[in-house]
Amino acid sequence: MGRVAEWFKERIPIRGEHLRELTNEPVPNHLKHWWFCLGGTPAYLFLVQIVTGILLALYYQPAPSTAYESVRYITEEVSYGWYFRSLHKWAATLMIAAVILHQMRVYFTGAYRKPREINWMIGMCLLVCTLMLGFTGYSLVYEQLSYWGATVGANLADNIPYVGGFLKRMMLGGDAYNEHTLPRFFIMHAAILPVTTVVLLFLHIMLVRLHGVSELRFSDEPPDQPGYYQFYPDHFYTELIIGLVLMILLSALATILPATLGPRADPLTTPEVIKPEWFFYVAFRWLKLFSGTAAVLSMGLIGFVMFCWPFIDAALRKYTPFQEASVWIGIVAVLLIIGMTVWEAAVEH
Ligand code: HEM
Repeated sequence: MGRVAEWFKERIPIRGEHLRELTNEPVPNHLKHWWFCLGGTPAYLFLVQIVTGILLALYYQPAPSTAYESVRYITEEVSYGWYFRSLHKWAATLMIAAVILHQMRVYFTGAYRKPREINWMIGMCLLVCTLMLGFTGYSLVYEQLSYWGATVGANLADNIPYVGGFLKRMMLGGDAYNEHTLPRFFIMHAAILPVTTVVLLFLHIMLVRLHGVSELRFSDEPPDQPGYYQFYPDHFYTELIIGLVLMILLSALATILPATLGPRADPLTTPEVIKPEWFFYVAFRWLKLFSGTAAVLSMGLIGFVMFCWPFIDAALRKYTPFQEASVWIGIVAVLLIIGMTVWEAAVEH
């Protein structure tokens, strides 16, 4: 046994102290509160997505003539197929919710400010990847709403001046939904987006490690108390408990509310009500309020402002007397998002 260990030590010269140093970075005290650890939650859920996604891909067939039947086969005939499909669906929903909550915590604690501006921008790219994973995944099932959702998405892209037509053709593999569309969505969903997410996550976590997590002090903390504690075992156990609770929650949701299968896509019959997944309700409501190019361009502008927010906020703080403008802007934005989501959920059309 000793000789085997020696053999490996010679070839992989990492010493125990090295590892301990790497993994035992001091963690700021505020991370003792679980709601500040929300960044780890989407990472856990992404792992679940990868594992369950690989299992689903063993049976899924990305062609209009076979996709729906393969999802039905997974749901009704493959052993535990319904369970893994439901886990995949619930982990997607929870991941999107967790990314939004994590972004809100970063925003309202001002953790995007200097020197973390680039990490905010990487985070915005992660948000886009997460939403696109949701959109492309929803389209793979080839239910009525998958088909019409993808068609609406492509027509929206068409509204973008100059590049819209090109984007639409890239998405659909032609001028309208055809036999090349599903394979494209599948490649995006199962290869391009996950790989991009992994690369972005690597950069995101690397920057968190390089800067350290931003420090927050609460007014009820005694001033002489040390501001940091050890990663191992305290923070490690917090993360472990969050992970275990998540797995139990996921399993319970998948069992109690398993993923269902709607009617098969029918390109000749437009459904009376086309609704996207809940996380696109805001965008959908926006599109109904300001139709066509104006809606798409204004959404692009909002995205751009969010992307550049650390610099806009810095300018506001430097050149105007409104030091805490970001908090009020954030509160209004959150209320608007909640209001428009509820509005879209409540109305039929
Ligand atoms: C897949 C999605 C994401 C994952 C897995 C993730 C993961 C993490 C983790 C583990 C941390 C360490 C501290 C913490 O737990 O809060 C962190 C910090 C951070 N994240 Fe994310 N994140 C994601 C998306 C985002 C998004 C959408 C944004 C904003 C647009 C963002 C911006 C930041 C910033 C600025 C920090 C540094 C915060 C600080 O130092 O206090 N992240 N992220």
